Order: sequence, then C-alpha cells, then structure tokens
Amino acid sequence: MCGIIGYVGSQQAVDVVMDGLRRLEYRGYDSAGVALVSSGELYAAKRAGKLANLDEALSQDPLPRATTGIGHTRWATHGAPNDVNAHPHTDSADRVAVIHNGIIENFAELRAGLEALGHDLLSETDTEIVAHLLGEALPQHGDDLAAAMRAVTSHLEGAFTLVAVATADPHTVVAARRSSPLVVGLGNGENFVASDVSAFIAHTRDALELGQDQVVEVTSDTVTITDFAGRPAEAVAYHVDWDASAAEKGGYQWFMLKEIDEQPRAIADTLLGRTSPDGRLQLDEVRLSEEELREVDKVIIIACGTAFYSGLVAKYAIEHWTRVPCEVELASEFRYRDPVLDRQTLVVAISQSGETMDTLMAIRYARAQNARVLAICNTNGSTIPRESDAVIYTRAGPEIAVASTKGFLSQIVACYLLGLYLAQVRGTKYGDEIATIMAQLQEVPAAVQRVLDGAEQVRALARDLADSPSVLFLGRHTGFPVALEGALKLKELAYLHAEGFAAGELKHGPIALVQEGLPVFVIVPPRGRDALHGKVVSNIQEVRARGARTIVLAEEGDPTVLAYADEVIRLPQVPTLMQPLVATVPLQVFACEVATVLGHDVDQPRNLAKSVTVE
Ligand code: G6P
Repeated sequence: MCGIIGYVGSQQAVDVVMDGLRRLEYRGYDSAGVALVSSGELYAAKRAGKLANLDEALSQDPLPRATTGIGHTRWATHGAPNDVNAHPHTDSADRVAVIHNGIIENFAELRAGLEALGHDLLSETDTEIVAHLLGEALPQHGDDLAAAMRAVTSHLEGAFTLVAVATADPHTVVAARRSSPLVVGLGNGENFVASDVSAFIAHTRDALELGQDQVVEVTSDTVTITDFAGRPAEAVAYHVDWDASAAEKGGYQWFMLKEIDEQPRAIADTLLGRTSPDGRLQLDEVRLSEEELREVDKVIIIACGTAFYSGLVAKYAIEHWTRVPCEVELASEFRYRDPVLDRQTLVVAISQSGETMDTLMAIRYARAQNARVLAICNTNGSTIPRESDAVIYTRAGPEIAVASTKGFLSQIVACYLLGLYLAQVRGTKYGDEIATIMAQLQEVPAAVQRVLDGAEQVRALARDLADSPSVLFLGRHTGFPVALEGALKLKELAYLHAEGFAAGELKHGPIALVQEGLPVFVIVPPRGRDALHGKVVSNIQEVRARGARTIVLAEEGDPTVLAYADEVIRLPQVPTLMQPLVATVPLQVFACEVATVLGHDVDQPRNLAKSVTVE
C-alpha cells in the first residue's frame, strides 16, 4: 500500500527520496510524488502512474538542491489515481507539504469545516485536509511543526501515518502514527522516516519502531518522540539483519521468481532452532503460558488472500494433531458474523506483512471479546504481532512480489509448529511422534528443491497453455486449498479466469464448466491415504471423459494416474500433510510463467497491493 519516506541530512534529498520510493514500489501504488524544502520555499512534483513518470517530470523540471524532503507512492482510496490526488499535498499558502498512508474517517466533516473557513481544496483526497489543518495550526504553535502535528492529530479519526515538512522549519521532518506503520532510520548525520525499512536500508540498518499514537520530530542529528499529548515517549530500537541486496532481484527477471527459489531456505529458516536440547519443541516468541494453551478449546484462524489458504491447509494438521476444533475464516468477514469467542478461544492471525487492515481489525475485535490472539507473521515489529498476545515469526525474509509465495509456505510451516506445540503441551501427541513429524518437516526443503529443479517442465506447459481462456484446479483434503491457491495465483498474475474446487464437489456443479480442451489441474494425494487417492483418480477420469486436458500432480512412482493424465507433474514422495508444501510450487511457477508470456508485470499485478492497509 502507500509507501512513505522522509529524509533530513546533507545528501541531495530528491535522490535519497526517489531511491527510497523505488525500494517501496513493491508495496503497490498508482501515483507518486516528492516535496523538498529549499531556501524557505516548498517545491513539489507528483505524477499518476509508475515512478518513471515522476522521474521524467523531474528531469524536465529539476527541483532545486535541498537536504530535506519527503516522498510518497500512493494506492488510491479517496479519489482517482491522478496527478492532482497524488501526494504530497500542500496548504493554501504552500508552507506545509504532507504525505499520508491510511484513511481519515471523519474527513468529510473536516473538509466541510475547512471550506466554511474559506479553504480551497484542490483534490478529492482525505490527505489534503491535513495539509490545510497543519497550515492553520502552525502559526498558532509558534511555527513548531511537531506541535502543530500533535494538535492536528487530535481532530483526526481513523488510521494514518502522516509525514510533513514546512518552510518555517526547513531542517525538520515530522511524522505521526496511528494504526499505520512508521519506522525511523538512524543514520550518521542524517535520519529517515519510512513506512518500512527497505526505503532506507541502503543508508542505515539501525531503526526505531514507533508506537501507536506517537509523533516523531527528525533532524539530521536528533530524533524526538512524544505521544499525541506532547509527553516524551520511547520507541523500540532494533537492528535490521537483512541487507539491501536481499531486497533486490539478484539477477532474476522477477522478485517472484527469486522468492519461489528461496522457498527451501524460507522453510528451513522457519524451522530453525525450534527444538530444545532435550528434544522438546520450543517456540520462543510464544508469550502464552503452557497453562493458557491447555485451556484452549477452539482455534479460529483468520487471514486474507494467500495467507487465508495457508490457514485452510493448517486446519487439517491442527485438528489431527491436537483434536481441538479449528475454524478458518476470512478476516474481512470475521467480526461481522458475531463469532462465538471467549477466553478459551485461540485466534490465530496469519499475515505476511503484519499490516493487513482486515486482519488487524479482526484481532482487535477478538481481543475485545477476550480471546487470546497469536500472530503468524513475516515482518518483525509490524502492527499485527505487536497487538497480539503471542507471535510466531516466519523467517522467509523480505517478500517483495505482490503475490505471496515463500510467505505462503513458511506460514504453513509456522502453523504446523503451532499445531505440534499445542499437541505437546496438551499431551495429544507423544514426544517421539512430534519428533517424527519435525523430522519430516526438516526433509521438506530438499523436496521443494527437487520440485524447483524440475520446473522447466511446468514452464514449457505454461507457454503451451498461456492462451487458455480458463483453467480449473481440483484437490481434496489438503489438496483443496492448494487448488484454491493455484487458481488465485493465475487470477492475480495472469488475469485469467481460474477456479479451484474441492474435487468431490465437481459433480455438484463445476463439472458443467468442463468442455473440450479445458485445462484442469488435479492434485492427487499421496497413496498413503488410500480412499482419498482413489477418489481423486476417479475425478480425473470424470473430467477427462468430458474433454478436459488433464494436468495431474502426483507423487513419484504413482502409476495409477498415467492412464488418465495428459501431462503428469511428479511430486516428491512426502507424507500427506506435507504435500501442500511441494504441490503448491509448480502452480506458482505455472502462474508466473503464463503471466510473463502474456507480458504482464508479475511483481506488481494490476489493481493489487502487497500490503492492504485499508478495510
Ligand atoms: C494482499 C496480497 C496477497 C496477500 C494478502 C494478505 O491481497 O496481494 O498476496 O496474501 O494481501 O496479506 P498478508 O500480508 O496479510 O499476508
């Protein structure tokens, strides 16, 4: 979602800010802009579309030298993605420029108030009202931008990260945060504020994570934090342990390809250090006591998009290992159905970014109902884990491509760790059984690597099928969410009509879609689950008999599918519950290749954002 950077130092601010915006592109955006303060004047440039448009505007009309600046990539909420609505926004007198991530919910009322005072608002955005409010507040607070910001925040409802510069205070950037992300980068003779560390990782790895309802005033050598009332406040300092190159493509055409290839590492890292010397599973960040976990009588997983599908996979394992009922629910639906929650309910929020607003609102609701909340998250210090009772971090590293890949597999692994941990503390599995499953998980990275090594077959198939108008995916048991994820990937990357179905539901409707030549992917369970295996093989026959082109994902050495498959994609032999971790990979590769052949931007599909920070 919106990317934000602010800079104060001695370098050319426009260069630092534009470089930061490039690193924030992965968040998804539809326009971009910068503002600088130089010689007591404010200079701004903004353009709809990709950063290249802004680059071109800056090369035609260069901004003057300045050492203080802010920059923004916008994902439209209030008002169309055009030049006028792009950030930064300024007040009537061009003394303040502001950028914003989030939504100001009472903006209509504030706008009406400003218009009644004679303010002329140029854009349709909620952000512009903040610039005007700051313009009003500055003289009332002796031109102290931080004091003006604190005063303005008291009028705002909703979620926001705001960053402002003012001509009255040319060597200062001021930022405020409520329910939207904001980090401070601590440099040497220069400081940064940003929506995440990737914006300034090329300059410093030392960062501060701002708390809720805080204002930070940043100069080249000072960082002053207060709460909204002006009382001194503290932020959590941390050192970023990944470097800039980890966030770059490393020679791949797409971040997504790089991230697909990083999956063995992501799984291995997520499993790292989870067993104590005495062989017991240990989850260091789980701040819930064993006693509390023994009291749990229901697990509800909430998540969005691909993370939701990881929850659907996890349900099979959690119920099987713990015998505790487990529901999986879309975060955006959760709080509207009046769910039954109490102190014995463990709500598990899965989110790669840790900032998805639907998921954040769902956990706030769950905690208000007294449920315990555990986050499974890939982003240290993000809002969802900070607002949860406990967290298990996936260790997938930065995921830049909008479509989640290594995030998904590592989410499944983290859910499995949680399931095993619950089984351990509740005594529903013996220690040796847990050790056996942990050993099976440790084998998965090598199995995923084998799938990756054979991916050329899938790429060739993708080139062959790229002009298909529609593709179906079928699976049963854990193969069902894999089918859903395969279809989602194709929709979001290739913009193709794709559907995932539970194979058993085929006969209740979807089979009517099958016609001559329709590609149908079928995920066949390992032969260990005999009844399940045979039923899926029958489903392949049913669609093939009606003309479908069957692409069958089946484990190595399974001969039963050969008679009914137009193409077989072999999967390494793994236990049933581990199969989603290998079976998803060819579907990721397939979608990525189809999108590439069709000429789409794989890393930033149209209309999508990596981190969706509005409901
Ligand atoms: C967006 C992304 C998806 C992602 C979903 C949930 O829709 O495009 O790839 O799965 O958000 O994101 P989260 O960060 O909460 O896992």
